[in-house]
Amino acid sequence: MTNEYIGVLDSGVGGLSILSELYKAMPDKNYIYVGDTKNIPYGTKTPLEVYSYTKDILNYFLKNNVKNVVIACNTTSAVAYDELNKEFKDKLKIFPLIQSIASTAIEGLKDNDIIALLATRATVNSGKYEKEIHKINPKIKVISIDCTGFVEIVENRLYKENKSIELIKTKLDIVKNNNAKRVILGCTHYPYLVDIFKNILNVEYFNPAVSLAKKVKNEINFKGNGEIKFYSTINPDEFKKSAKMFFDIQDDVKLISF
Ligand code: DGL
Repeated sequence: MTNEYIGVLDSGVGGLSILSELYKAMPDKNYIYVGDTKNIPYGTKTPLEVYSYTKDILNYFLKNNVKNVVIACNTTSAVAYDELNKEFKDKLKIFPLIQSIASTAIEGLKDNDIIALLATRATVNSGKYEKEIHKINPKIKVISIDCTGFVEIVENRLYKENKSIELIKTKLDIVKNNNAKRVILGCTHYPYLVDIFKNILNVEYFNPAVSLAKKVKNEINFKGNGEIKFYSTINPDEFKKSAKMFFDIQDDVKLISF
């Protein structure tokens, strides 16, 4: 048994959709989760800003017995992972989200099939999903939809507001009009909204969390005791409330600053 931890990070509660799958796959590991709610949303920030927020978190992980990090954030994986990995690769093994799951996302699709990506503006602008998918099959058509505003719906629990439903409908209309076969939930906040999506549009929704957890499990080997420490960079009580749908956090969420 060691006191090693897996570091898991996101801008807020979204990454808990990944942590819950990691924990299901590996209940014997220890985890430190950081939700950077002070800087949320990452999706409207510049790549340099996202890089700098995440670098602080990685440095914190380094000082706290973390050897493996799961970037439970599509935006960070899209715009900052390459730089961060260059800098930290001798000290940390980093699992980026998009790069780890692109092949599973298109499993079973054929040439000329259409897949829709729902994601933050930064992820859409990066073109990272298209690049990773086209490395595997350049004939699959990827429709990328900027869903700015969805993260706020989740973090502020605005699921029932008419404005929220209207916004979601306009984005799903694009999916429908393009006849997409499958939708990638390309932001870790969106699995919180998937029941609403399904009520509006009945297509196949791909949540990358299970496939990412499987990959991480195959590559990590230490024995912990299932401990999870939760931190957020502002308003830990709000974080705990918003987290409920994916993680019924029993202990306190602690405030952390870098
Ligand atoms: N949940 C993150 C993602 O997967 C970031 C959302 C945001 O902060 O804009 O992209």
